[in-house]
Amino acid sequence: MNIKKISSIETYPVRHEVLRKGKPIETCQFKGDNDEYTTHFGFFFEDKLVGIISIFKENNILFPESNQFQIRGMAVLEEFQGKGLGAELVKKAENHCLNFNTNLIWFNARENAVPFYEKLNYKIIGDSFLIPDVGIHFVMYKKIQ
Ligand SMILES: CC(C)(COP(=O)(O)OP(=O)(O)OC[C@H]1O[C@@H](n2cnc3c(N)ncnc32)[C@H](O)[C@@H]1OP(=O)(O)O)[C@@H](O)C(=O)NCCC(=O)NCCS
Repeated sequence: MNIKKISSIETYPVRHEVLRKGKPIETCQFKGDNDEYTTHFGFFFEDKLVGIISIFKENNILFPESNQFQIRGMAVLEEFQGKGLGAELVKKAENHCLNFNTNLIWFNARENAVPFYEKLNYKIIGDSFLIPDVGIHFVMYKKIQ
């Protein structure tokens, strides 16, 4: 398996390139990045980090489940997209959450990524909303046990 745990700082090159292109590097730091239950995974191809996903222990009041995790910072370098890496990273995150007895995974999905998550059986709840400087998003979720 090419997926390994990484530190929050190790995610920055891919966060910057894919999610915060042209913005200051400080925008790659997310609140809670170094919290006890936050985990970051990286997908490596020949020792190069090419994909990332982060999981935060964060409840969303939209859901009644008591033990929710939020996915953030999901990104694959453009030249590695469409090869199944993103799906592998989400599955790794789901398995990780199962180990923590999570009931539900949710996240704010960029509009363009919605079909990707739907293929992995995530569903939209509610209307779209705008995250300033980033774009239109939907809340998506999956109950995992
Ligand atoms: C969205 C993203 C993480 C997907 O990762 P990926 O490695 O390219 O996706 P995969 O190759 O694992 O795709 C899995 C399936 O979803 C499909 N898919 C992926 N992105 C898609 C898209 N934007 N629209 C439609 N289908 C898509 C793939 O065709 C594949 O389908 P298949 O199983 O039938 O072959 C990646 O494209 C990316 O980093 N995009 C830019 C940043 C971004 O939008 N991040 C999400 C923020 S919420």
